[in-house]
Amino acid sequence: MSTSIRRIGVLTGGGDAPGLNAVIRAVVKTAINEYGWEVLGIEDGFEGLIQPGRVRPLTLDDVRGILPRGGTILGTTNRANPFAYEVKTSTGVQTYDLSGDVIRHIQVLGIDLLVVIGGDGTLRIAHDLSKKGLLAIGVPKTIDNDILNTALTFGFDTALNTAMDAVDRLHTTAESHHRVMVVELMGRDAGWIALEAGIAGGADVILIPEIPYDLDVIVDKIKARSQRGAKFSIIVVAEGARPVGGEATYQAQRDPGGVKRLGGVGEVFAQQLRECCGVDTRVTVLGHLQRGGSPSAFDRLLASRYGTMAVHFAAQGKVNHMVALRCDEIIAVPLSEVTGQQKYVPLNSDMILTALSLGISLGNTRQFIEGIQSPGDTDGH
Ligand code: F6P
Repeated sequence: MSTSIRRIGVLTGGGDAPGLNAVIRAVVKTAINEYGWEVLGIEDGFEGLIQPGRVRPLTLDDVRGILPRGGTILGTTNRANPFAYEVKTSTGVQTYDLSGDVIRHIQVLGIDLLVVIGGDGTLRIAHDLSKKGLLAIGVPKTIDNDILNTALTFGFDTALNTAMDAVDRLHTTAESHHRVMVVELMGRDAGWIALEAGIAGGADVILIPEIPYDLDVIVDKIKARSQRGAKFSIIVVAEGARPVGGEATYQAQRDPGGVKRLGGVGEVFAQQLRECCGVDTRVTVLGHLQRGGSPSAFDRLLASRYGTMAVHFAAQGKVNHMVALRCDEIIAVPLSEVTGQQKYVPLNSDMILTALSLGISLGNTRQFIEGIQSPGDTDGH
C-alpha cells in the first residue's frame, strides 16, 4: 500500500469522447473521499503541462453536476505531444522535445501521480514519460474502441448508439425513395463502430478496414435484394474502409506530425456504385456527432468504475498501469502492454460470424474473409 501520495493530477488528451467528465468526477470523488488527496486538473491534455498557468485545483464542488455532460471540463487536444511539440515559426514548423520540462513541471506542482485519460496516443506519451520518472495511471478513452487489452473503452457505447440511431433513421427515407443510403462512420483503422452499429441497425452491407471490399460482391448483394423485392439498401462504411488492393481515403488536411487524416470514403464508394450500376445513392457522413452528447448509462457506469479504480490502483502502488475491462471486472494492465498497437476486429470472432449468418455482406466473399490473416485476428478481449 503506497501512502506517499498526497496530490494527484488529472488530464484528458486526444479527441473527446462521452464519459470524460464521468471519469474526472470519479477520480476527484474517490481521491478526496477515500484518501484525502488533493486533485489538480490540467487543462488541454499535456499542453497544460507545457504552458504555464493551465492547472487548477479540482474539489468536490467542481465536479458536481458533470456526470451527464459530454465533452471534458478540462479541455483536450491532440496537438501537444511533449516528445515532439510543434511550434509554428515564420520559417515553418519546428519540433521540440519538451518531455524533460514536463517532468520538471509535474515535480514543481507537487504532483505525485498523474491520471491520464486518453486514447493510444495519449497513453503512449504517459508510458514514455513513465520511463523518465513519471508515476501515471491510464484510463482508456476512445469512441473507436481500438485500445489493446481492454474489452471496451468508455465512449464507444454512446457513439455506437448514436450511429445505430442514424442507421435506423436512414432506413425510412431509403425505403421511401428506393435508394441506396451510404453512411460513413468513424473508427480510424478499426471497424468496431461500423460493424456493431451496422449489425444493431440492420444494415445490408458493412465495410470495415479489416476486410478490403470488392465492389462486384456489393453490387451482387444489392441486385439480389432488389430481385427479392427490397428496393433500398443501407450500407455502413467505416472511415478506414478500402478496396482490395487499394488505399484508404484521406482528407487533404493532415494532423500534427504530418499524420494523414481519414475521411471521404463514403462519397468515393457511392460514386463507384453510381458509375457501375446507376443506383440512386446518397451519402451521410456522421462525423463528430458520434463524439458529442450525453454519455449512455453504460458509458457513465464504465467511466465511473474506471475513474474510481484508477485511484484505488494508484493507492495500492499499481502505477504505470491502465485500468481495463476484462470479463466484467476492472483490472490493471501495464502501460507497456497497451501502447504501440491497436485492437482490430478479430475476423474469427462471433461478431463477424453473426453478421455473415444474418446475411449481411461484409464487402467480400466468405472465402476471401476466411483467408485474411492478422492484424484482424488480434483478440484484445
Ligand atoms: O479517435 C477518435 C476519432 O473520432 C476517430 O474516429 C476520427 O478518425 C478522429 O478521431 C477524428 O479526429 P479529429 O477530431 O481530430 O478530426
